[in-house]
Amino acid sequence: MSNSAPYSIQRVNPIELCKKYDSPLYVYDADKIAYQYEKLTSAFDVKTLKIKYACKALTNLSILKYIHKLGADIDTVSIQEIQLAMKSGIAPKNIFYTPNGVSFDEMQQAIELGVFVNVDNISTLEKLGEKYGSSIPVCLRINPHILAGGNLKISTGHINAKFGISIHQMNEVLDIVNKYGIDVQALQQHTGSDLLDADVFLKVAEILFDTAKKFKNLKALDFGGGFKVPYKEGDITTNLDDLGPKISNRFNAFCEEYGKELELWFEPGKFLVSESGYLLASVNVVKPTPTTTFIQLDTGLNHLIRPMFYDAYHHITNISNPNAEKKIYSVVGYICETDTFAWERPVEEIREGDILAFHNAGAYAIMMASNYNSRPRPAEVLIYEGKDYLIRERETLEDLMKGQTIVDF
Ligand code: LLP
Repeated sequence: MSNSAPYSIQRVNPIELCKKYDSPLYVYDADKIAYQYEKLTSAFDVKTLKIKYACKALTNLSILKYIHKLGADIDTVSIQEIQLAMKSGIAPKNIFYTPNGVSFDEMQQAIELGVFVNVDNISTLEKLGEKYGSSIPVCLRINPHILAGGNLKISTGHINAKFGISIHQMNEVLDIVNKYGIDVQALQQHTGSDLLDADVFLKVAEILFDTAKKFKNLKALDFGGGFKVPYKEGDITTNLDDLGPKISNRFNAFCEEYGKELELWFEPGKFLVSESGYLLASVNVVKPTPTTTFIQLDTGLNHLIRPMFYDAYHHITNISNPNAEKKIYSVVGYICETDTFAWERPVEEIREGDILAFHNAGAYAIMMASNYNSRPRPAEVLIYEGKDYLIRERETLEDLMKGQTIVDF
């Protein structure tokens, strides 16, 4: 993998973007999203493949609209994500709802909007049966009990995970399904994010196939998301050239055994948007100390929490001085607690005022951003066909005060 900025972002000048929109700034590259979508869809050879973009990664309305225009449906986890998808022009029939532990009231709101819902616990299944009987189709989220994923916080399919219904509880599930005649049309699982070992998809497939045999009216099997994207040079990534044919062959064979052409679904988040995004930030201070040289930026864990939250690596390039020799720096944020982006990292020589680019800031960057230290969130810019579009304005002090009232003491 090359860590240099690819695709249409090369045709714009990130430094000019920072002058135009100010810094820090999230920038997304539409071409890269389209490239990833094409790469994924061309890897599988099945009758019907559906990509349901896990929009928790990045829900900007323009991004939702663009990804849907490419051909993807949208996977949502909250009523608000459903509403955002609808606001961006996506019909409820193209929205899938995979919540975890939400209130029954929220589940009903989704159903009333006409969205296909995924059920991840037996209590909700029973309530759905009581209320709707066989009148709405549902998907069941299965917990396959496989430990996979980049770290425990993002592993969702292991025995201690709160997600899905255990494969050991299928008898109970079947009792409820039969009692109310519930129309189970799909089974879904999501093992985790950053799946290092692509064979996990094959293992999970066998578990889904075994479970699927218990349900006679299925239309789709959903293998979740979690495709591994590169964050740094030499990173393992999901080898779709290898995985695509293997999954497709097994899936097609299973469909024959099941006696019906099922649809194959995936729910990628990172794979579609992670590499498309950059967080651009300015260097406020270069601070040599007896132990290291700190680079202090006009951003922090409030805008990119992944390094502090998951020890995640985000590649950093100095786009103001790209050809300079690399020196060792500790790149940190401006937050009033430790917020280290990179410790003792080689980066092209950095001077105060330079613009640094954090790579892989398309997924779970602005989405996990906060107003900590009462800092506004940055603007978002989309590069589409070589042109820059402001797709979200920078927050202001007014945004920080919105909805607050001052008590008349
Ligand atoms: N489907 C379900 C049910 C999920 O819970 C997730 C992610 C996905 C699909 C998409 O996974 P992806 O393809 O993006 O790996 N904030 C973390 C990642 C949390 C993922 C949560 N669920 C991070 O920044 O690494």
